[in-house]
Amino acid sequence: MSLVRNLITKLESSALFPHAELSACLRTSDADEIRQLFSAACKMKERVTGRSVFFRGLIEISNVCMRNCFYCGIRKDNAKVQRYSMDEDEILHAAKKALDLHLGSIVLQSGEIQSSEFTERIEKLLLRIRRETEEKLGITLSLGEQSAETYDRWKKAGAHRYLLRMETSNPELFQKIHPKKQRFEQRVACIDYLSSSGWQTGSGVMIGLPGQTYDDLVNDILFLKEHNVDMVGMGPYLPHPDTPLTQHFPYTSGTLLLSLKMIALVRIVLKDVNIAAATALQVLADDGREQAILAGANVIMPNLGGEEFKRNYNLYEGKKDLNDNDDSGMSRLLERLKQLGQKPVWDEYGDPRHFFSRSHP
Ligand code: 5AD
Repeated sequence: MSLVRNLITKLESSALFPHAELSACLRTSDADEIRQLFSAACKMKERVTGRSVFFRGLIEISNVCMRNCFYCGIRKDNAKVQRYSMDEDEILHAAKKALDLHLGSIVLQSGEIQSSEFTERIEKLLLRIRRETEEKLGITLSLGEQSAETYDRWKKAGAHRYLLRMETSNPELFQKIHPKKQRFEQRVACIDYLSSSGWQTGSGVMIGLPGQTYDDLVNDILFLKEHNVDMVGMGPYLPHPDTPLTQHFPYTSGTLLLSLKMIALVRIVLKDVNIAAATALQVLADDGREQAILAGANVIMPNLGGEEFKRNYNLYEGKKDLNDNDDSGMSRLLERLKQLGQKPVWDEYGDPRHFFSRSHP
């Protein structure tokens, strides 16, 4: 029996988590096994969301960050970064672009800032976006760890999805890639709070981190399942030259194949979640995101910020998505999706089915 058949049989016949079977799928280099894995993931996706592809217009609102994550290009101590914060009008302009393009949803992402001014600024911004776009856009936030009160205020102001990757489910590895005062437990507490307080909650990991094992990746899938996430965003770890992690491990990076396998396995195990074709995949292959769609992902996040901003939002080296928002970039993407038999969905929030099928207080 093939590796993926083995996995599916185990999932259907046993309540035990299929560690060994998942690990075997991650390790295989057999082209036929890999083909079968992606095809099983696509079948599962078609069962739960058809061939729909949802879009979220990504707006990178600021690269100012108070954190010093060892892997991230916009970490506070990277003095080479030219810092920016888009003002309200600039962000509104980008949000309206999402409306014009019929994308249905936006993601507001920035470096992490914890302050009452920031909480308030985002709150006001959300109210204004809701008002000026007549609530026609789904709003996802990706603004890091915050207090329960801040999350509540932002939810009340109109956001309904939150992305907060745990980066890895291995607490020791988490600690190796973050300064001491960033705690794994704190990150997990935020994810659990979001999920239990009515947010559509997304999490995920970087794939191919220095010191990360196949077992870690299998446990990442288990973590995402146990924490009942609605959305998953995972991509390859890509070294950024001006970070401590790259200076210590200059030759380590994630691969496209391992990232695609993770997407496929998450689809097979978690079934009705939304899975993003991470932007970082595009660094490894021009059609990385389309390949992710064929491995089980169902969400693409075209970048909507202006050139002057996007250039300075480099979490990793080699960011290539600089022309998503010119019309030819977008139509090229759509043309390729059409060739692959996929069906872009317009003017809908594109909520993950899992959010409605799971129980949440
Ligand atoms: N390589 C890949 N992904 C990265 N991120 C940050 N730095 C890198 C990097 N060097 C990812 C993290 C974070 C998300 C916003 O970007 O997973 O959660």
